[in-house]
Order: sequence, then C-alpha cells, then structure tokens
Amino acid sequence: MERFAEGHFATDLFGRPLRNLRLSVTDRCNLRCQYCMPEEEYVWLPREDLLTFDELGRLVGIFAELGIDKVRLTGGEPLMRRDLPALVRRLAQISRIKDLALTTNGVLLAEQAQALYDAGLHRVTVSLDTLRPERFKALTRRDSHDRVLSGITAAIQAGFKGVKIDSVITRGVNEDELVDLLEYGKQVGAEVRFIEYMDVGGATRWSMDKVVSRAEMLDVLGRRYGRIEPVVEVTTAPAERFALPDGTVFGIIASTTAPFCQNCDRSRLTADGMWYLCLYALNGVDLRKPLRGGESKEEIKSLIVSGWTRRRDRGAEERKELRVRAVFVEKERLRKDPHLEMHTRGG
Ligand code: GTP
Ligand code: 5AD
Ligand code: SF4
Repeated sequence: MERFAEGHFATDLFGRPLRNLRLSVTDRCNLRCQYCMPEEEYVWLPREDLLTFDELGRLVGIFAELGIDKVRLTGGEPLMRRDLPALVRRLAQISRIKDLALTTNGVLLAEQAQALYDAGLHRVTVSLDTLRPERFKALTRRDSHDRVLSGITAAIQAGFKGVKIDSVITRGVNEDELVDLLEYGKQVGAEVRFIEYMDVGGATRWSMDKVVSRAEMLDVLGRRYGRIEPVVEVTTAPAERFALPDGTVFGIIASTTAPFCQNCDRSRLTADGMWYLCLYALNGVDLRKPLRGGESKEEIKSLIVSGWTRRRDRGAEERKELRVRAVFVEKERLRKDPHLEMHTRGG
C-alpha cells in the first residue's frame, strides 16, 4: 500500500488521510438515471433535517481545520438546492480549501454557471452518458439532453478550466458511444472519464454482465485510435488517466473491476448531516444532532477524528472479493434507510 506523507492530517487504520469531503446538498434529482434511480418512487429525507447553509458552512469549517482541503458538492442534483451560489461563496472563503468542485447532471447548469463561477467555485464535472437525445430520454426518463449540452458549453464560457465529463458505460445501453463521447470531449475542450457501472446502493438493476470493464474499454479505444499510453501520476483520485496518440487525455474510473480503496481519502456528508466513511458504508456518524444540540466545535472535532482514526473501510475491494456478486442493497432496505442510496450520499 502506498504510504502518505506524514502531515497534520488524521489518518485511518490504513494510513489514509482525511482530506477529501463530498458534500451532498440535496437528495432530490431532476433525472432518473437507470443506474442510480431506477424506481418509480423514493423515500426522501425530511426537509427539516436538511442542514442550512450556515450549518454546512460551520461543519465544513471544522473539517477544514482537521485537514480537509478538497470539497466536492454533490446531490442528488446539487443545482436543485436553492441559491447554491450563496453556499459556494461561503465555502470559497475557507482558505484551507484548495479545491472546491461540483458534480452536476448539467440540466440547470446553463442558467447557473456564471453565478457559480463568480461565487468562487473552482471546478465543474458534468455527467453525460450519451450524445443521442432519444437514448438520453430512455436512460434518464427526462427530455433534457439539449439543456445538458448547453450546460457544458455555458460552464466553459463562464470561465471554468478543466471541465470534466463523466460517462457511466453500461452494456446494452451506451457501450457503442466510447469514441463519440471522446470526440465530443475533444471538440468542446473537456476531459472525458468513463466510469464502470458500480453495484452501489440504489443500483437495483446491477449485474456483472452489464459492467463494461476498463480492459474492454481500452481494447475498443485502442482499436480505433492506436496505441494508448497511461499517464503516469501520483494521485488519490479514482480516475486513471490515459493519452491517445494525438495527446488527448481521458480517464477511466474502474471502481468495479479495479478499485482504488488503498488510496481513498474521501468521506461523504449527506444533506441531513450523516457522515459516511465509504461509498459502501452501511452506517454513518450523525453530525446533525451534535451540531443542532449545541455541542462545541471541539466536541464535534473529536467525533470526526475518532471516526476517521477507526476507519477500515475498503468497500469496493470487498465487493470485488465476493464470489457471487449480486445487488448490494435490496429495495426494501433502501426504502427503510434512504441514506443507503447513491443519490443520497452523492455519486
Ligand atoms: P476529482 O478527482 O476531484 O476530479 O473528482 P472525482 O473523480 O472524485 O469526482 P466525481 O464526482 O466526478 O466522481 C467520479 C465517479 O467516481 C463517481 O461518480 C463514482 O462513480 C466514482 N466514485 C466517486 N467517489 C467514489 C468513492 O468514494 N468510491 C468509489 N469506489 N467510487 C467513487
Ligand atoms: N455506477 C457508477 N456510477 C454511478 N453514479 C451513480 N450511480 C452509479 C453507478 N451505479 C455516478 C455517476 C454520475 C454521478 C453523479 O454518480 O458517475 O455521473
Ligand atoms: Fe473509498 Fe469505500 Fe470507495 Fe473504496 S469503496 S474507494 S474505501 S469510498
């Protein structure tokens, strides 16, 4: 296992530092992607439980004092949270945060990109799985393909550098679009990352035969473009990067067939203040209660440190080790605890 430089970070039982926080600002979404929200009905978090911007600002401030320097806003769809630029403005003032990013489905991005940029957001990643409007509709059950494409160009026009496009590749759905998506990325100047279909909570239609592996993706792309070289870099990010012969760089996130748990420095906070130490964790730490109960900053800090220093999660690796790999969480259980849903903990 790669060792991390000793620093002021709290480290977990595998020496992984507390550095990267994914902040879900809402569990609602305006799309219904088959790999994430395939059901007709969902149990939503109670509105009164959602942390206010003030509460979120305070908590992120505490995390930052403990070493968090990367924050990513996620959802559901984060742009559905009213006045998100106001939260961005607040978080952008926390000087220890060196990287403040957003993962969005892009539907509301055209109207908000400039305000987000002006508020101090550093980076944007947009999910886009297909370039075909009809396919988009089948995959997401909504008719907003045009809006996503305009969202991507609006983000670039607003001034965001290094815009990324995340495409989950699923067999029988869009595995024939690898080349088209890469060409689209080149055309607009965004780095494309192909993501293996994961058996996360909420992926109730998952099965291994629908997973298009990194090896298979590289094979298809190699046949079209010629030799593909890995980009050598040291990082804790899930994406491995590759370069085409013309220099175009793209990523593959192989969380299903080649998990990156060994280097995982991320944890996630749900919109109602539950803190999860792994995408696959079944239990989290309730930070809303102490925050609303008036506990001191030091008390909340010690809760966080004691959670992280006991962390031994390596969910994706454990899933990979299973001999029979079926759906991770059954529908009935998701209904009882919506925190287990990917759209609640942030993709
Ligand atoms: P940067 O490296 O900061 O650009 O961000 P990122 O790659 O973490 O961000 P993004 O939100 O775009 O994540 C991309 C995809 O990686 C997600 O949609 C998931 O499919 C997968 N992913 C994100 N977080 C985790 C995680 O904690 N564990 C695993 N196994 N997969 C993750
Ligand atoms: N497999 C892989 N990625 C997923 N996401 C959601 N569900 C899954 C899944 N089952 C990710 C996608 C999307 C982001 C918001 O969440 O990458 O772009
Ligand atoms: Fe980190 Fe858990 Fe994802 Fe592995 S599965 S990378 S430990 S969050």
